[in-house]
Amino acid sequence: MSYPVMPIPFKPPRLVGLSEGLLASHYENNYGGALRRLIAIEEKLSSVPLENTPTYDLNGLGRERLIAANSVILHEVYFDCLGGADGIGGPTVDPTGPLADAIARDFGSFENWKTEFTAMGRALGGGLGWVSLVWSSRFERLSNQWSADYTHALAGGIPILALDMYEHAYHMDFSSNADAYVEAFMNNLHWDRPTKRFMDAIGISGESGLTEDNEVSVEELQRMMASGNAPLLLDICLDEDMAKRSDKISNARTLAPQNIEIWIEDLPKDQPMIGYCVYGYQVSGNAVGEMQRRGLNAKRLKGGIAAWHAMGGATEPLAK
Ligand SMILES: [Fe+2]
Repeated sequence: MSYPVMPIPFKPPRLVGLSEGLLASHYENNYGGALRRLIAIEEKLSSVPLENTPTYDLNGLGRERLIAANSVILHEVYFDCLGGADGIGGPTVDPTGPLADAIARDFGSFENWKTEFTAMGRALGGGLGWVSLVWSSRFERLSNQWSADYTHALAGGIPILALDMYEHAYHMDFSSNADAYVEAFMNNLHWDRPTKRFMDAIGISGESGLTEDNEVSVEELQRMMASGNAPLLLDICLDEDMAKRSDKISNARTLAPQNIEIWIEDLPKDQPMIGYCVYGYQVSGNAVGEMQRRGLNAKRLKGGIAAWHAMGGATEPLAK
């Protein structure tokens, strides 16, 4: 059995306060080592005559495979979480969006979560282990999970964010100063990828509109609006369809698609915006596509205002 290696998703020299040497060593030797070990153990297991192998050997191989597999998974989450605000390297910014909303809901605030997460990390300093932000479908909430080695895991917990407290993750740069390492880790977080992992975990992958997706789901837009992060809403509808309608999403700007060459020039260049039409097909899709070609931060609402209605989203009367 073989497994692909995950490339580092950022440029190590660009991280703030974590050296390229530390990151490269950690990636190549510890993550790579775990992956290589996992593959070797799998090969060993497939070659031993199971019926003649002592139970203690099988138990040993099973335990080592679990350790290597969890090490691979957690290291991939760890490296994937880093990269700063732009994902390539540089200072972090606090997250916004569905994961940020869920953190605030489950911990009271982002600051509460961060205080607990970093305190748990510092408490493992000088020893070894992981602190992971995990999603539990059983409890339907996020938790900070402590683990002293790779065999500790919250059953069913899905790692969203992982902080490696094994000394190999920081000793080269920080010696025994684990507190400074925890701070540097937090200063380099890239929240888009954990948010994508969270969306996958709760089963609405592909509807998040967070990274490569051109669409935003109704649920996502509702969350944005509830959290006070409403994008600029553009109601882009053909005259013939407009005649059949009586309302629009609250605060949306109504725009005629045939006049796009006029109004597109007036749209803000740096503000997220979501365009919608009646059912979310060509009208808003074509307009949003043109907006994206002009460099605007635009997405379309999946299902249009019909889906918005179906979910009971707030509307206001359409001025005619
Ligand atoms: Fe590690």
